[in-house]
Amino acid sequence: MGGLTFIDLRDRYGITQLKISPENLDEQTPQEVITYTKREYVVQVSGSVIERQSKNSNLPTGEIEIEVYNFGHLNTSITPPFTIEDETDGGDELRMKYRYLDLRRNIVRKNLELRHRLAIETRNYLDKLNFLEVETPVLIKSTPEGARDFVVPSRVHEGEFYALPQSPQTFKQLLMVSGFDRYYQIVKCFRDEDLRADRQPEFTQIDCEMSFVEQEDILQTFEGLTRHLFKTVKGIDIPTLPRMTYADAMKYYGNDKPDTRFEMKFVELNGVVKGKNFKVFDDAGLVVGICAKGAAEYTRKQLDELTEFVKRPQIGATGLVYARFNADGTLKSSVDKFYNEEELKKWAATFNAQPGDLMLVLAGEENKTRKALSELRLEMGSRLGLRDKNKFSCLWVIDFPLLEWNEGDTNLLESLRGRWVAKHHPFTSPKAEDVALLNTNPGTVRANAYDIVINGVEIGGGSIRIHNKELQAKMFEVLGFTKEEAQNQFGFLMNAFEFGAPPHGGIAFGFDRLCSMFGGADSIRDFIAFPKNNSARDVMIDSPSEISEEQLNELHILVKKEEKKI
Ligand code: AMO
Repeated sequence: MGGLTFIDLRDRYGITQLKISPENLDEQTPQEVITYTKREYVVQVSGSVIERQSKNSNLPTGEIEIEVYNFGHLNTSITPPFTIEDETDGGDELRMKYRYLDLRRNIVRKNLELRHRLAIETRNYLDKLNFLEVETPVLIKSTPEGARDFVVPSRVHEGEFYALPQSPQTFKQLLMVSGFDRYYQIVKCFRDEDLRADRQPEFTQIDCEMSFVEQEDILQTFEGLTRHLFKTVKGIDIPTLPRMTYADAMKYYGNDKPDTRFEMKFVELNGVVKGKNFKVFDDAGLVVGICAKGAAEYTRKQLDELTEFVKRPQIGATGLVYARFNADGTLKSSVDKFYNEEELKKWAATFNAQPGDLMLVLAGEENKTRKALSELRLEMGSRLGLRDKNKFSCLWVIDFPLLEWNEGDTNLLESLRGRWVAKHHPFTSPKAEDVALLNTNPGTVRANAYDIVINGVEIGGGSIRIHNKELQAKMFEVLGFTKEEAQNQFGFLMNAFEFGAPPHGGIAFGFDRLCSMFGGADSIRDFIAFPKNNSARDVMIDSPSEISEEQLNELHILVKKEEKKI
């Protein structure tokens, strides 16, 4: 521009404009600078910071520029495979393959800065309360009662394996036995489970444990942490966290992590709709619905979309019944043949619906129907703009069941099918008043376990632990372990309980989830510097990968070469 040359210089702190004019340059001409400088070159510049004539209020550095005296190259760059700007043309896989370039983009860098701030403020809060950060080992022992373990073969001990920790659970409990009454660690955990937007095979927890506490102490302490983080990192004061029992969460939201940014609670209709010759409702274990405020004017097309939505195999409903409470006060449903206006008025009264509202109803087997309606509720929440990412609704879900019948969870080993498994983990204490039920009706035993839920995401979970050897042994028995198996796998913990173990309990926050929640994103990937992709691969370093025959031999692992299977 008029003999002047401008260059955008990017560093960790943003973009600064360099102004290069012939009269200020010491040795080169602007032409030389331009000819030999390309995108992503690493440069060294000396000059004066001056006020910019045409200011750019969109940039933090938009009011200044640098008048360059000297311009040098520290390194060159080949043409990057995608544009390194906020709006990039690089697809997901490409950006993951060149993650170090993706990390040059403001957006991703800011996510990691947020992560850093959250880690610092977590440490500040916990340090003030006298929590001690202690590191626990990464090569540990396989305990296949949770998700699947990642295992590491031992070279020295033929046929034996370490496992990577799914969490430091047993170690933090042992630290309590050791007398470290307040522990925390920001720690890597590893789980070989199905991946989703909020799950990575290796992820980070803020892992905490306290001695001489009851559930109330843990809830208070970590509500305090949550409040501290919202205040210091986002400048938001959050109200006291409401508490909801697991039973209520399932009854009103069909979900143990309800999104409470909006109401739209479940309304049960068995007492209202049965006995009118509509077979779908008459045969159903549960008829249940939601009232979508102001959605009576949904078009046929929108309602068909919703029907298709609930019929998707992942949701699994057989169909959707709807009833419009029109603005003029008339009522019209998709099952008018069976329900006249008088009947629909009863529906509206049960739903507490107003003119203008849309009632959406599902029917079927109880648990399946609740689950499907929970998905529909979230979908309607999104469609009606009720799930604002800048609004935060936090709560505790408490009184979880101790056990869960495992029909066939694909994240668990095949051998655990058709058995009781721990809902949280096997070290969680049953409620004192429910212990006797362990023998008679294990499915109804409630645990001293709690989750912290924000905007429908399980951000953290924990429990008061068993600290008594006999009760721990009983728990393993209910979980189908023989005495020998329990001793073999968890003897170290049960034996430790014989040496004066204090009552203790704790919690772990999913740190990546916390970061993405604070950053207003759905996926945790962009808050992890080097994440794995959806098939658990690191495409940048190409991992997992084969290892040499020599390594395999040393590790005593036989590989069927022709099938390439270990
Ligand atoms: P839990 O298994 O509930 O509890 O894990 C605690 C929190 O960790 C996060 N989380 C994950 N985040 C990303 N990717 C994953 N694959 C993943 N799995 C879990 C969730 C979850 O709430 N030892 C116990 C805690 C305790 O009892 O103190 C534990 O690990 O946000």
